Amino acid sequence: MAEPAEPAEPAEGPAQTQPQSQPRHAARAEHPAYLVGLRLAGRRVVVLGGGQVAQRRLPALVAAGADVALISPSATPSVEAMAEAGQITWTRRRYREGDLAGAWYALVSTSDPVANETASAEAERTKTWCVRSDDAEAATAWTPATGRSEGVTVAVLTGRDPRRSAAVRDAVVEGLRDGSLAAPHSRDRSPFVALVGGGPGDPDLITVRGRRLLAEADVVIADRLGPRDLLDELPPHVEVIDAAKIPYGRFMAQEAINNALVEHAKAGRSVVRLKGGDPFVFGRGMEEAQALAEAGIACTVVPGISSSISVPAAAGIPVTHRGVAHEFTVVSGHVAPDDPRSLVDWKSLAKLTGTLVVLMGVDKVGAIARTLIAHGKAPDTPLALVQEGTTAAQRRVDATLATVADTVRAQDVRPPAVIVIGAVVTEGPHK
Ligand SMILES: C[S@@+](CC[C@H](N)C(=O)[O-])C[C@H]1O[C@@H](n2cnc3c(N)ncnc32)[C@H](O)[C@@H]1O
Repeated sequence: MAEPAEPAEPAEGPAQTQPQSQPRHAARAEHPAYLVGLRLAGRRVVVLGGGQVAQRRLPALVAAGADVALISPSATPSVEAMAEAGQITWTRRRYREGDLAGAWYALVSTSDPVANETASAEAERTKTWCVRSDDAEAATAWTPATGRSEGVTVAVLTGRDPRRSAAVRDAVVEGLRDGSLAAPHSRDRSPFVALVGGGPGDPDLITVRGRRLLAEADVVIADRLGPRDLLDELPPHVEVIDAAKIPYGRFMAQEAINNALVEHAKAGRSVVRLKGGDPFVFGRGMEEAQALAEAGIACTVVPGISSSISVPAAAGIPVTHRGVAHEFTVVSGHVAPDDPRSLVDWKSLAKLTGTLVVLMGVDKVGAIARTLIAHGKAPDTPLALVQEGTTAAQRRVDATLATVADTVRAQDVRPPAVIVIGAVVTEGPHK
């Protein structure tokens, strides 16, 4: 028989209690809970009930390495998937007395109040810490509102107000993530070098990790593209270097950037190389990682949201769409198709039915369109140029392969722009 989903477990404390039994210890509610971190790896944890409460709690128990035994006649599809993946063991039946034998911790959350009461009594007898979803007052343990940021676990109990606990947790985690909560690591924390993908330009589109590292940097070497607004938020002691302005004299510009990275890292500073989009998508990130490696300096690579996908999306163009495009190809258009330096096989690309995304191609778009048509692509294939995507200046210009050269001239489309070619252009809200 399917067990109906039980009511959501209160995050904690008596505030949400609908007591079904008298408190066993009269003073219990007045005492604050004593917070501990349970080290559950390899230890038996029994979960009764496979509904929404289990679904919410199981991932953290599994992440803690607990040996989780679920006892429930039914489970939500996510809980079932965890059992199928071998992350938990699932016994498909109702609770029976004795099920808590050997458990260090129990989560009681069935839809049967009698079973919950009996299991809770068993836990009390066997001295197993027990969380109850239906009766927080009768429970011997409460689940705090928890969150994690880079190795820090935040757990909050307010005793009476689970929403407030969640709000405090969110504020602390957010503060740790974006660096607004000053919580330095140990005093002797070693400096770091990170190649950070900053996303396409909107400051909200950098990753949480990227933003945190930015807040911890002593030196930031930034590109012209990417979330430049974030640079204004950096404290005054942070040295911000514009990569385009690093003097390169007898070196190539990229070599000069590599040298700057190595020099600052060797001087013991924490360095963020902030790049537009993703560091490894036409970002020369690997050259920088290699230069650092050659100098014996380890670096962290933080992926970013590439403009190749996000800029079309911001303009309402999906790079894939069911029944329309089953592939997308991202190519660089920085050299013309007939340039011997080009590594792009335009002839083959003309034969693909999916979406073609061209970066750095505004100047060469006429030649690119002519080449694709010459190799068999239909002249009326739709195309869009999205200039300065995700920023306040975002602009979308539509054309076809046949008309794009004239359109770009007439509308004065300028870099940076992402060019999207294919049927997906005429899908979506801009249709
Ligand atoms: C050197 S590539 C770097 C790409 C970057 N690593 C990425 O993953 O998005 C620069 C090109 O990316 C595209 N691009 C980057 N940001 C853009 C934006 N906000 N709007 C339009 N195009 C953008 C343009 O085609 C530009 O010429």
